[in-house]
Amino acid sequence: MLFELERVSLRRGGKPVLTDLSVRLPDGLNAIVGPSGSGKSTLLRLLDRLSDPDSGTVRYRGTDARELDPLRLRREVALVPQLPALLDGTVAGNLRFAAEIGGREPDVAHLLEVGGLDASFATRDVARLSVGEQQRVMIARALASEPRVLLLDEPTSALDERARDSIEATILDLHHRIGASIVVVTHDIAQASRLADWVAKIERGRLVGQGTIAEVLA
Ligand SMILES: Nc1ncnc2c1ncn2[C@@H]1O[C@H](COP(=O)(O)OP(=O)(O)OP(=O)(O)O)[C@@H](O)[C@H]1O
Ligand SMILES: [Mg+2]
Repeated sequence: MLFELERVSLRRGGKPVLTDLSVRLPDGLNAIVGPSGSGKSTLLRLLDRLSDPDSGTVRYRGTDARELDPLRLRREVALVPQLPALLDGTVAGNLRFAAEIGGREPDVAHLLEVGGLDASFATRDVARLSVGEQQRVMIARALASEPRVLLLDEPTSALDERARDSIEATILDLHHRIGASIVVVTHDIAQASRLADWVAKIERGRLVGQGTIAEVLA
């Protein structure tokens, strides 16, 4: 099992955000779906140890996440947050920085291409990109460290249909070509069914269903 949450609860500002949540995410293509405010981003962040639950256990490949060094974990499991958060400077600078963390020499041109950006973006100042372009740089940057697992939080929310299709194709290609496992958070059931084999559905911080897309929609 890629990730396993067992009876996870978490409160924020005195209010329950995740409640007694037990979720299994197998190796492969996974989606977490649910309405706005249901706790999807909060759940995703637990998988990269950006926070820990108040109670319950998160396991990554069978090991309690609290026993894992967060920085080592994040080299293997890359999270692309919902809102773009790039470093000041150029697109290429951002890609190089991420690759160096992973101890790698980045192929900037290739990373731009998989992110669906043309070569002229390399020298662009990230402060002067549209949100959709920043979102694509975020994905390209996450790939620079060659993660085994990619956690994507609403990766196409700021994109038009064409750009969305290109990102979805990139995600599927990553899985099929290099065997990366994916966990994508989306409020869009149609997107979940295009991208994922396994779906966990949450509402108000509680699990309301998990299984194959067909099982969860039934
Ligand atoms: N630091 C915080 N303090 C107080 N409440 C918080 C905090 N972080 C999250 N919440 C609350 O937890 C709930 C779940 O938030 P979360 O961001 O996980 O939802 P989401 O499912 O990702 O929503 P969206 O689809 O809008 O991104 C929301 O009601 C939010 O207001
Ligand atoms: Mg969210």
